Amino acid sequence: MTVQVPAKINLSLSVGRRQADGYHALRTVFQAVSLHDRVTATVADELRVTVRASRLPDREIVGVPVDATNLAARAAAALAEGTGCRPDVRLDIVKAIPVAGGMAGGSADAAGALVACDALWATGLDRAALAAVGARVGSDVPFCLYGGTALGTGRGERVTPTLTRGRYHWVLALAEDGLSTALVYAELDRQRADTARRTVRVEPDASGVLSALRSGDAVALGRALTNDLQPAAIRLRPSLQRTLEAGRDLGALGGLVSGSGPTCVFLAASAPAADELAASLAGAGVCRTVRRVDGPVPGARVLPEGVG
Ligand code: C5P
Repeated sequence: MTVQVPAKINLSLSVGRRQADGYHALRTVFQAVSLHDRVTATVADELRVTVRASRLPDREIVGVPVDATNLAARAAAALAEGTGCRPDVRLDIVKAIPVAGGMAGGSADAAGALVACDALWATGLDRAALAAVGARVGSDVPFCLYGGTALGTGRGERVTPTLTRGRYHWVLALAEDGLSTALVYAELDRQRADTARRTVRVEPDASGVLSALRSGDAVALGRALTNDLQPAAIRLRPSLQRTLEAGRDLGALGGLVSGSGPTCVFLAASAPAADELAASLAGAGVCRTVRRVDGPVPGARVLPEGVG
């Protein structure tokens, strides 16, 4: 049973206060894009995980655990516990989504494992039930199940699909090393404490991005892209500033750090413009590598037999 599951980017990300549980209240607009991990589930004697990179070099997946702490393994174990199945499954993960890149790579693998195990064990849970299991594993798991474009609230785990028109053409600038999401949130808290408790928007607004998406206006979307975590990510990785400036100088309609970074995302006016931007950005020497992706795309789904 092989499942394909997309990466996410955040078109807007407003972060409220840190809550008692350590998480921050969010209001974010997610979009699923055409960069996918694959998770294959097969019957085994015990829960096992393998991970490989879809493109060489394999150093891209260094740091991804292959034990019970892998988010896909945790998702399978949570689903087994919730449905009374035995978690005896082998999960083979093929990664294309950058590790610790701010693109929900770990949550994507958890979502993939949920859909694959649900199909393998014939547990017959609907998306909402799988999302409830997934939310306990990672904040972005529910969105990776649904895909498309959606508003995320709570910790990001409450997902409401949004109306969008058109297809958007993105260029991703991948960084040399990942950034820890927890450290980026901690840096944001530190910066906010330093700035004499300037008002934190607890009920933040995503209306600029949402109205641009509703009308299919890429120029307006480019202008409205916003991420409260960006200054913290740049503080921890100052080279991101240069990457963002290069993308804008090369003609992107807008650009920002995706989620907690360090991946930077640039919007182009058309598919050919995105191809051109990707080539120029690759030549500018401001990132490890670039990827051309489109969105929105559907969430985690089982591939026809013989395709994985
Ligand atoms: O839920 P997830 O595993 O993706 O979160 C990783 C880390 O990011 C959390 O442990 C927390 O430090 C931080 N986080 C947060 N507020 C959120 C989501 C994540 O502080 N809404």
